[in-house]
Amino acid sequence: MIILEEAKDLFVKLMQKNSKEREWEMGYVLFQCLNMRDPRTGDHSLLVAYYSYKMGQILNLNKEQLFLAGLLHDIGKIEMSDEVLKTDKKLSKVERKQLKNHVLQGVFLLSEMEFDSNIIEFCSQHHERIDGSGYPLGIKHGKLSLIGRIANVTDVFSALTAKRKYNHDDSYSTLESLKLMEAQQAFDPGALSVLSMVVQSDSKIKQFA
Ligand SMILES: [Fe+2]
Ligand SMILES: [Fe+2]
Repeated sequence: MIILEEAKDLFVKLMQKNSKEREWEMGYVLFQCLNMRDPRTGDHSLLVAYYSYKMGQILNLNKEQLFLAGLLHDIGKIEMSDEVLKTDKKLSKVERKQLKNHVLQGVFLLSEMEFDSNIIEFCSQHHERIDGSGYPLGIKHGKLSLIGRIANVTDVFSALTAKRKYNHDDSYSTLESLKLMEAQQAFDPGALSVLSMVVQSDSKIKQFA
């Protein structure tokens, strides 16, 4: 997957640039722990980081901070059991509760380690939806921050375009994924259109390469 390789290259570059920064040092170690625990979640987090960085570039936000936030958004999964973290089977009610708990666990970890509030906000809102159907709080549109709306779209897009199952290669194309997300009406249309710009510019660059 070409984008994943680009995301890894960008990660190396940003680590070299920010190697003296406390947040990046801690973020690096946390990410490596998550990646060792479950490489699929590691790859997913790298994609979320990459797309969030690219959206930040277009929106003139702190793109490097968005990369770090994407890298750590699922860090709460570190405490999930293998039965929940590494399965493709339908989850029971109890298991589903454990899965959803990764947001609060992540917020707890990142707060304890005194990460910037924007990084914590990215984590806390990444499963919220503008129609209020998300979790953990069911926040509605007006209350979702820009960082949260970026996290919503980059998280789902990265999940849809990545390998959906262990030992299987099936995934949605970038175009199919964007269409599916538009149809759901649970995502901020503005954030989706910026993500679409990122995807289009990526594919244009590849046509020249
Ligand atoms: Fe998550
Ligand atoms: Fe995620």
